[in-house]
Order: sequence, then C-alpha cells, then structure tokens
Amino acid sequence: MDAVVCDRVSKRFILRPDRPRSFQEALIGLFRPRPKDGARRVEFWALRDVSFAVRAGTTFGIVGENGSGKSTLLRVIARILKPTSGAVRVAGRVTALLELGAGFHPELTGRENIYLYGSILGLKRREVNARLDEIIGFAELGEFIDTPVKHYSSGMLVRLGFAVAVHLDPDILITDEVLAVGDEAFQHRCLEKVHEFARAGKTIIMVSHDLNLVRQLCDEALWLDRGQVRALGDPVSVTRAYLDWANAKAFRRADAPAPNRRWGSFDVEVTRVEFLDGEGNPTWFFATGDPLTIRLHYRAHRRIERPVFGVGLHLGESVHITGPNTRFAGLDIPYIEGDGIIEYRVRELNLTRGVYLVSVAVSDHSLTHLYDYHDRLYRLEVRSRPGFEAFGPVYLPAEWRHLNGVAGPIRPRPGYTPAPPPSPGRQPE
Ligand SMILES: Nc1ncnc2c1ncn2[C@@H]1O[C@H](COP(=O)(O)OP(=O)(O)OP(=O)(O)O)[C@@H](O)[C@H]1O
Ligand SMILES: [Mg+2]
Repeated sequence: MDAVVCDRVSKRFILRPDRPRSFQEALIGLFRPRPKDGARRVEFWALRDVSFAVRAGTTFGIVGENGSGKSTLLRVIARILKPTSGAVRVAGRVTALLELGAGFHPELTGRENIYLYGSILGLKRREVNARLDEIIGFAELGEFIDTPVKHYSSGMLVRLGFAVAVHLDPDILITDEVLAVGDEAFQHRCLEKVHEFARAGKTIIMVSHDLNLVRQLCDEALWLDRGQVRALGDPVSVTRAYLDWANAKAFRRADAPAPNRRWGSFDVEVTRVEFLDGEGNPTWFFATGDPLTIRLHYRAHRRIERPVFGVGLHLGESVHITGPNTRFAGLDIPYIEGDGIIEYRVRELNLTRGVYLVSVAVSDHSLTHLYDYHDRLYRLEVRSRPGFEAFGPVYLPAEWRHLNGVAGPIRPRPGYTPAPPPSPGRQPE
C-alpha cells in the first residue's frame, strides 16, 4: 500500500523582483513610475512533473542541491502548499517538521501550541493530555513550556517541533533537515526516535544533506535536480549517482576558465579530487574525529622531477587552517610521468562542525613554480560528534582535569610577587 503518491506534481512561483522589501523601499516606490502590472513578473518552476510513491511503513529520503525544490516538495506533501498542477495523495495522518517554528503560534506558550497542533491534527484534548508529559519531557523545555514560543531559542523551537511531530501519533512523519539542527545529544535522540518510528511500521519522508544518513536510514531515495526527478530507487545507487554528479560538477568548475580559482603551468594537472571515508567510500560528509583520505588523481604531461603535492584546508574564504604537503612530510617523489594518484590520509579529522573548503596543488620542489593550483574548489562538511564539540574550527584531542584545593598549594613562579587582595567593598581599578 502506498502512503504517499505524487503524480506529476509541479509548483510554480511568481517572483516579483521589484516588490518592496522594506518600508523605505515602499516609500521610494511611491515616487517611481510603476511598471505595468505583471510587466516584471518572473515565473519560476520549483517542481516539475515530480512523480513517485512511498510505500507505507518505509523510510524515504530526498537529496539534492540547495534550491533544488526539496522543501517545496515536502510542503506540498504536508499540504501547506498547493501544487500548480498534478496531484498528491496521502493516506494517513501527517506531522511535519519543516522550517523552524513553522506551525507554531508565536504568542502562545509551548503548552498551548501543543494543544493547538493536536487539534489541527484532529486529536481530542484528552488524547493530547495523555501525551503531554512525554512531549514536554522529550522537548526538555522545563518551565519554558509556559513561555510564549516567540521567546524560544532556535534549539528550543526544534526540540518542541520534533517532540510534537513524533508524539502526536502520525502515520507519516515528514522532516526537513531537522537532524542538522539542535545540539548533538538531541540530534541523537531524534535519530533514535526515527529508528523507533521505522520499526513501528510508520512512514517517514526525510530531506537530508547527509548522504550516509540517507543510506543508513532509507529504504528508497529520490534525487531532485532543479525541481525534477533525476534518480529514484535504491538509496545507495541514488546517493552515489548524486555524489558523482556533484563531484563532476565541482570538477567542471575547476576546469572552467576561472583564472582566480585555478592556475599554473599545467605540466602536471590534478584531474580529479576525491574525499574518502574510513571504508574508502567517496563522500563529502564527515564527523569530527573520522578518518579522511583526500585522493588526488594527476596527469603529468612530461617527466617532472621532484614534484610536491599539497592540500589546503580553509574555513570560508579567509581562514587557512592547515596546508600540508609531501615535501614537509618528507615524502620524496623522484619523478612522475603520466597518470597517478596521491593520497593524503588523515587519521582523525579533528575539525568541528562546519563547511570547509579544500585546495589542492602541485608544484616544483622549491614550492615556487606551480604546475596546477585549485584554490578552494572543493568542499567538505563536518558534523560534530558528541564529546568532540568545541568552539572554533579545531578539536584538539585532550582531557580535562579538575584538581581540587586538596591537590596542594599553587606555587608562585620565582620572582613573582602576588598583588595584595583588593580591600573589601572597593572595586579593583
Ligand atoms: N515562496 C516562494 N516564492 C518564490 N520562490 C520560492 C518560494 N519558496 C521556494 N522558492 C524557490 O524555489 C526553489 C526551491 O526552493 P526549496 O526551498 O524547495 O529548495 P531546497 O531544495 O529545499 O533547498 P535547500 O537545500 O537550500 O533547503 C528555490 O529557488 C527557492 O528560491
Ligand atoms: Mg530546504
């Protein structure tokens, strides 16, 4: 039996680039000649002819680039948006965790919102009462449950949203990238809940950028590309196809005439760059502490003596985190000619959660002549892992110790005279 069927679903948005966004712009607009109504209307198809079916009791994953229409598709399934054409059939009660705070009334408290959401789903007050403690417990909101949700932090909103969505007994649960928000411990509990749901025979439709998660959790996957279905079926092959395409696209970018992103004499070219996980599978998602291998495929158009290969890790466009190379590492490559592979293996990727940009390079032994340089052309994403969190981009493997007063007096450095304690009642300057 199918829980959700999308039959040639299309969704068109009308974009009005000249619509005022602020009061000032609206004022300025008053004194401007107005284009004839509709003159600057731009149509945009966020979904085109999307067809698929989700069997009841299965987990269905949706992947695709930013802006490919994933959230729009979820909103159409959740009946928040009407498709422009095509039909959606849903069998069962749906709860959806879409963008932050969607579905909540900002002026109402957390508790009141739970009742509101329940009534929208057709639950009786008694039925909501029966689940209230569980919801409040799962959301970990404490006394904030009686505070209007407009005062909630984003983490609190996600926790409440997820708690409500999973405890109000849906047949179909829709989640959009939620597992990427909230703290790690909570994400972990969400995942547990999703597993529990799957075991209980419920239907789950999830959007995620985490392809490994999609492979682990989903029975089937869909790849959306600019609003259209590119692949549908077994999650391993769908995510693989998507990854190959995205890598090839990144590489086409590297290959395109982009003088500020790639340069060199090209006697040696880096022809392909791959990121591999601990099992040797290509991916661009890692967790803090995971092994990472960066594999550079090269082609030397002539014999090159003592080349040096390097990689660079960057946070955004400005922070260069590290730039190791084969020469610093003492790997002497006498010469290269033709095709080959260089691997840079990181035992533990001790970066904290975020998006990192990767550069690769081949140069001569003096590091002054560049054969090929790809400046921040590749990206990898790191999610954090409980116990490995830190502020800033780097996690240093270390232990904390608390030596209490009983550990002995602190000895001053030689030559150090302690300042006299401030007299009580006076603030030190
Ligand atoms: N209400 C709207 N009005 C106009 N355009 C919209 C609207 N909602 C979405 N879009 C456009 O539709 C396209 C698809 O958006 P959507 O949010 O579904 O993408 P997505 O795949 O969820 O992306 P992301 O991975 O960034 O979340 C985007 O180009 C977006 O700008
Ligand atoms: Mg989205």
